[in-house]
Amino acid sequence: MILKHKGINIFYTETGKGSAIVLLHGFLESSKIWDTFVPKLAKKNRVVCIDLLGHGNTECLGYIHTMELMAEAVEAVLKHLRIRKSTFIGHSMGGYVALAFAEKNPDNVKGLCLLNSTASADTPEKKQNRARGIIAVKQNHKTFIRHAVSNLFIPENHKKFATQIKQLIKDCQKTPLQGIVAALEGMKIREDREVLLHFSPYKKMMIIGKNDPILNYNNLISQTKDTNVNVVVLDGGHMSFIENESACLANIMHFIENN
Ligand code: MLT
Repeated sequence: MILKHKGINIFYTETGKGSAIVLLHGFLESSKIWDTFVPKLAKKNRVVCIDLLGHGNTECLGYIHTMELMAEAVEAVLKHLRIRKSTFIGHSMGGYVALAFAEKNPDNVKGLCLLNSTASADTPEKKQNRARGIIAVKQNHKTFIRHAVSNLFIPENHKKFATQIKQLIKDCQKTPLQGIVAALEGMKIREDREVLLHFSPYKKMMIIGKNDPILNYNNLISQTKDTNVNVVVLDGGHMSFIENESACLANIMHFIENN
């Protein structure tokens, strides 16, 4: 389905009936990543998948897509569907967007799951890497995507999930250059939202890939210290929904059922 928002098309899907679950994909991805999870989650829930700004079938809104701007598009879809309270599952950048949404609309959050994501801001080193990424993607869009996607998996899994990685790269290569650069710019300036892990009233879960190549395991664990965040550690890297599909889904279902 398409919603017009601020003059652009926002793409979303809606499946099933029941308490609302909102699935938000990560950088370069689209709502397609949730294809295997949706039928299972939709047996008892109303599942909404949204393509974030400049990704999938959603158009670009500018040259910097801040997490707040992306969250506003999510807000528009949920308002349009008259959904008041939802449980958010955000993969990586989708988690940053879910946190931005939750900060602005705490009463509309029933639960929050950060899947291979973080509540902290970019380190200075990471900001530099993003700046380098912006130059690289402008030079060679397709090579940048191929490397960026492969780097999300632990090396041992490259062979094991070769078919899925190939398909994912193919899908990610549809992301327009403007969407990639605007997301990198937006992630680079995103705020630290660790405070939400401490002081928000809704249930929270963090699913962490033990050997995530792009998020530091110790940093993630320390974010959850002295919080009531339910921490799940799975083998593999940044792509738990592929590298550890059944455990990832089982934990999400358990989180939803007990929320
Ligand atoms: C993602 O998977 O969404 C991104 O890699 C997250 C990031 O670069 O911080």
